[in-house]
Amino acid sequence: MKTYIVGNWKMNLTVGESSIYLQKLLKRIRPAKGIEIAIAPSLVALQPLGVQLERAKSKIKLCTQNFYHRDFGAYTGEVSVTQLRGLADYAIIGHSERRYIFGETNKDLKQKVAAAIRNNITPILCIGETENERNFGETADILRDELFGALSEIDAEDIKKVIIAYEPVWAISSTKGAKLAAPDDIAESIKLIRSELKEIYGKEVSEETPILYGGSVNPNNAGAYLTIPGVNGLLIGGSSLISDHFVDIIDLAKRVRS
Ligand code: PGA
Repeated sequence: MKTYIVGNWKMNLTVGESSIYLQKLLKRIRPAKGIEIAIAPSLVALQPLGVQLERAKSKIKLCTQNFYHRDFGAYTGEVSVTQLRGLADYAIIGHSERRYIFGETNKDLKQKVAAAIRNNITPILCIGETENERNFGETADILRDELFGALSEIDAEDIKKVIIAYEPVWAISSTKGAKLAAPDDIAESIKLIRSELKEIYGKEVSEETPILYGGSVNPNNAGAYLTIPGVNGLLIGGSSLISDHFVDIIDLAKRVRS
């Protein structure tokens, strides 16, 4: 299975800054077998960065941070995943910032996962418990609820097109005071997610669905996170905005794989 290194730039960098940043990455990142690198810039930067990547014949993929689940229509201000075909290969769905700041529900996320699959864009479905939920011993229930809330209509064939990202909400943005998750805690949650997948979709899906970890990943902890059993990559926020850090994490991934 590939190792996925995905940088989520969130609402940072102008189009010009995004392009300069990508130029830096292109100079430093060499493709490596088995490592899939994707960046999720803001929606307005997807198109120019796509052109830049094509010109450089780069294998770096683009990921959208958001989209609306309908394909076309009278939805002023929205962008559909259909309109992103050919631009983005991946789509982040269910990020905790979308759930908690923008009120996205499991019903919305179910429609988004279906829309991404319908449009041949790989969904990266984010799930994770809040600090309170963890303290009240509800982690397993929340993971199950968020997983099947978004996947309830995904059949045994389409589940093979889905990537899961485990992102404990309390571990996101350590620069803003979040805690770092311990590898053992992550391992336990990943095991749980795989056992839920096994119950519904069987052993093969449970073993072969890529599961990424996200939450304050940086070059100091990425090596440890990448060696947690069952972790197939990283979803990186803050550190992906620092080119040296992002490149260091990719280099670590190469080392862990070799
Ligand atoms: P962080 O963000 O790496 O800044 O914690 C991760 C995420 O929100 O996906």
